[in-house]
Amino acid sequence: MSKALEVTSLRKEFGGLVAVKDVSFTVDEGEFVGLIGPNGCGKSTTFNCISGLLEQTSGSIEIFEEDASEIRPDQIQNLGMTRTFQHTNLWREMTVIENLLVPPRGQFGSSIREMVRSLLFPANPVEEERLSRAYEVLDQLEVPHMAHNMTSELSGGQSKLVDIGRSMMGEPRLLLLDEPVAGVAGPLAMKIFNNLRKLVDDSGITVLIIEHNMDFILRQGVDRIIVMNEGGVLMQGTPDEVRNNRAVIEAYLGATVDSGGGEE
Ligand SMILES: Nc1ncnc2c1ncn2[C@@H]1O[C@H](COP(=O)(O)OP(=O)(O)OP(=O)(O)O)[C@@H](O)[C@H]1O
Ligand SMILES: [Mg+2]
Repeated sequence: MSKALEVTSLRKEFGGLVAVKDVSFTVDEGEFVGLIGPNGCGKSTTFNCISGLLEQTSGSIEIFEEDASEIRPDQIQNLGMTRTFQHTNLWREMTVIENLLVPPRGQFGSSIREMVRSLLFPANPVEEERLSRAYEVLDQLEVPHMAHNMTSELSGGQSKLVDIGRSMMGEPRLLLLDEPVAGVAGPLAMKIFNNLRKLVDDSGITVLIIEHNMDFILRQGVDRIIVMNEGGVLMQGTPDEVRNNRAVIEAYLGATVDSGGGEE
């Protein structure tokens, strides 16, 4: 199986603080993998290094087996990767479909409104294609009815969904999602995970998803979970392996988890 992402001995220091100590993991093509760990353990910093937003102190990153240790954020799309941020940042005064038509952060030119207008009233086939892609993405996320809602009127969970939709616009082969369901009500959060699972199965896309709630992610059908703690990787394995791992239970879960896993 070929690798979508390989992180080797990643380290990131902020002055005297070592946010990421020694992180190594791989994600195979077509896998749906969760990255979890307590607040401040270095999950987002790891994403920021992978996506070129931060320069790592040391270590290397390969994306689809190409060296990506030194990429800039505007180059990640070319490698087939897209990411979302922990804090969604949609254009509030635009509709959902308009938001999907704006390229991700750091990848657009000066006149966004002009560009969106030309996309909404397409004069050429490329623009028409982008518009139909936007509707297709909303279909995949099962929210086609939201297309013309104002973004400012959406709930937090719906905004997260639009953010995921935006990241899917460029048809990435590797999607990095930073806590896409934080603060999202249970049923919608589950629906988002179901849709991602379906996306992985149907289109062969690779998804790495940060989630802070261990109990929740253990039930969401991911293939594998990487558990971080204090800037390092504590263990990785299937949800069952994580559920039954003593180090995880002791270091992270405490008494909150049913290690027998029989309550479904
Ligand atoms: N730009 C920065 N400058 C200085 N310190 C930072 C910076 N970004 C993160 N940190 C610190 O690095 C550590 C890891 O932070 P990070 O955001 O990666 O954690 P996280 O696992 O994503 O946490 P959370 O679950 O709260 O999102 C924390 O101590 C944080 O305060
Ligand atoms: Mg974070």
